[in-house]
Amino acid sequence: MKKVLVFVFISFSFLLINCSNKDILTIQSPDGNVQIQFLLQDKNQPFYRVYYNGEQIVDWSKLGFQFRYKPALKKDLEIAEYQTNSRDTIWKPVWGQKNKVRNNYNQLLVKLKESSRLERRFDLIFRVYNDGIGFRYVLPDQQNLQRFEITSEETEFNLNKDNICWWIPANYDSYELLYNETDLKQVDSVNTPITMQTKEGHFLSLHEAALTDYAGMTLVNKNNAGLLTCDLVPWPDGVKVKAETPFKTPWRTIQLASKPGDLIESSLIVNLNEPCKISDTDWIKPMKYTGIWWGMHIDKYTWHAGDKHGATTENAKQLIDFSAKHNTPGMLVEGWNVGWKSWLSGNNVQNYTKPYDDFDIKEVVEYGRKNGVNLIGHHESGANIPMYERQMQAAFQYYADLGVNAVKTGYAGGMRPQGMYHHGQWMVNHYRKVVKLAARHKIMIDAHEPIKPTGIRRTWPNMMTREGVRGMEYNAWAASNPPEHTTILPFTRVLGGPVDYTPGIFDLTFDQYKPDNRVLTTLAKQLAYYVVLYSPMQMVADLPENYDHPAFQFIENVAVDWDTTMVIDAEIGDYVVIARKAGDEWFLGGITDEHPRRINIPLNFLTDGSWLAEIYCDAPETGLYENPTAIEIAKYTTESSKKLQAALSTSGGIAIRFIPGEKVKDLSKYESIQVYNNKSDMKMENFKALKIYSNSKSQ
Ligand code: NOJ
Ligand code: CA
Repeated sequence: MKKVLVFVFISFSFLLINCSNKDILTIQSPDGNVQIQFLLQDKNQPFYRVYYNGEQIVDWSKLGFQFRYKPALKKDLEIAEYQTNSRDTIWKPVWGQKNKVRNNYNQLLVKLKESSRLERRFDLIFRVYNDGIGFRYVLPDQQNLQRFEITSEETEFNLNKDNICWWIPANYDSYELLYNETDLKQVDSVNTPITMQTKEGHFLSLHEAALTDYAGMTLVNKNNAGLLTCDLVPWPDGVKVKAETPFKTPWRTIQLASKPGDLIESSLIVNLNEPCKISDTDWIKPMKYTGIWWGMHIDKYTWHAGDKHGATTENAKQLIDFSAKHNTPGMLVEGWNVGWKSWLSGNNVQNYTKPYDDFDIKEVVEYGRKNGVNLIGHHESGANIPMYERQMQAAFQYYADLGVNAVKTGYAGGMRPQGMYHHGQWMVNHYRKVVKLAARHKIMIDAHEPIKPTGIRRTWPNMMTREGVRGMEYNAWAASNPPEHTTILPFTRVLGGPVDYTPGIFDLTFDQYKPDNRVLTTLAKQLAYYVVLYSPMQMVADLPENYDHPAFQFIENVAVDWDTTMVIDAEIGDYVVIARKAGDEWFLGGITDEHPRRINIPLNFLTDGSWLAEIYCDAPETGLYENPTAIEIAKYTTESSKKLQAALSTSGGIAIRFIPGEKVKDLSKYESIQVYNNKSDMKMENFKALKIYSNSKSQ
């Protein structure tokens, strides 16, 4: 049911200071805490600035465009007209971190016109929410501005250079990087989201929403002075965006919060996207999935056919048996179609409708269907886009005919055509084409080497999850992701949208296959990822033979779609504790960086009454180096007035399932949470005596 309430604009949220072209137009959030000011100055160029709780977050910053073969559109402007309005709506996502989203903002629309000969026009729309702002350019259809080529979007974010930042460097092809924590002075360029803490302790994150038919935005820090300037990913000829009016840009967004967890709870990015365009969404279902996948990354298997081929009919059927038994409705198979040797050679040419001889796809799909497990298809384009686009239509049809309802796509490789970038306008359009094509075939998408998430999932909810992160696979064949990596991701990359990090590795050292590589976490931290690292398609990534372990019960039980999400406690780059509700159960995940940590977790998110807490946590003897797979699994009774004292080992974690007491037989036979808490001091003593991960950056 959709409930739409539109409130009439409340006059106090809009202020006009003076009444000429030199006016500052001011608009503020419904709660009054966020404020944007707009002004024409410096040869009548548009500027804006932003305040949050009285702190100036963004100082006067320019807006405008430069074009190829046309005069820039940024100066000699006058305000032709402005309008304000407000909205307060509640909408229901098909899936998400919460089941209801409030879209509540005040808007200022400024219509600008050049006073010079061309009299070109464009609008700026500013939306102010309690949790941040968004603004976009709208270029209406007009005689003197029809086709155009943007060579520079001049948007600036004039920030305090002493802000502490969590960031990855700008890269036009990849987001698979480790995050830095430095002050803004030390940032040269970034891919968004970039997240910061200000002098007064506020948090902000710069990103974009509704990236459609436009180039991805990176930001450059000119002279390291804190003035971040938009630098769009170019076409091979250097142009950034090729378009014609009427046209609108993506939203430039700034999430604002007084504590880090509020960034995660914010819905700003999805709110700035258009409503769902798929009328029947019954076929879109969040899920856990297994895969013939990790085996290739640790060299147990190969993608291509041969002695070690992973994608055989027999292996697939075995994995279907496992998936069916363990409540995992999806199963990915990579390397089933001919052409994989070409991917390894760097010139990827695959056939997406022709199985290798040892993989009987019909038999596998049929066997899966009988057992309630859906095959998840795979298209590795190797970034050879012309080759993929030639086959795409047939490739999706092929899967649809088989009844496959989800496809993982991949773009690992150097771009074809050469000179294009993964994050340029042409590829943004390609990625969208795939999502729409998939929707027509009732297929969900999990994209690897994707364009960054900008909330398109609201409009196209078959766009389930994506990589765009230095994920688990790096632990298999590169330097391990350091312990702090996943304590930064929820506050940076995942603010854009779900992440296919592929958690759940139980054999953390996989010495049998690759003695020199390992995953740098404890086992409990792997479980906690299912709650901490949000994804509506969550992989159960390890080899099935490694899951013969009592801790696997948590993965079997944990939900993938949530009614509510609450960040209980967090410090970016140090630790994070998140609780999420699904139906009448709660799941909690807590992780720490390299420091062993004691975390006090108030349980007041639980409703009144008794609860059973099924706890999976680092055991007293758990050590990242000594014994990473040691895990304590125990059940205790608790209630909302209690606190839980968690003790986490270096790169450790805690994962909890809370079951309402009335659903539990013999609740009285369990001890109280106090008994658990009493052990936390002793555990911390142990953890401090063990070897602590010390190199906070290992590339
Ligand atoms: C890179 C992807 O991230 C990974 O998941 C996949 O297995 C390989 N490419 C091969 O497609
Ligand atoms: Ca990848």
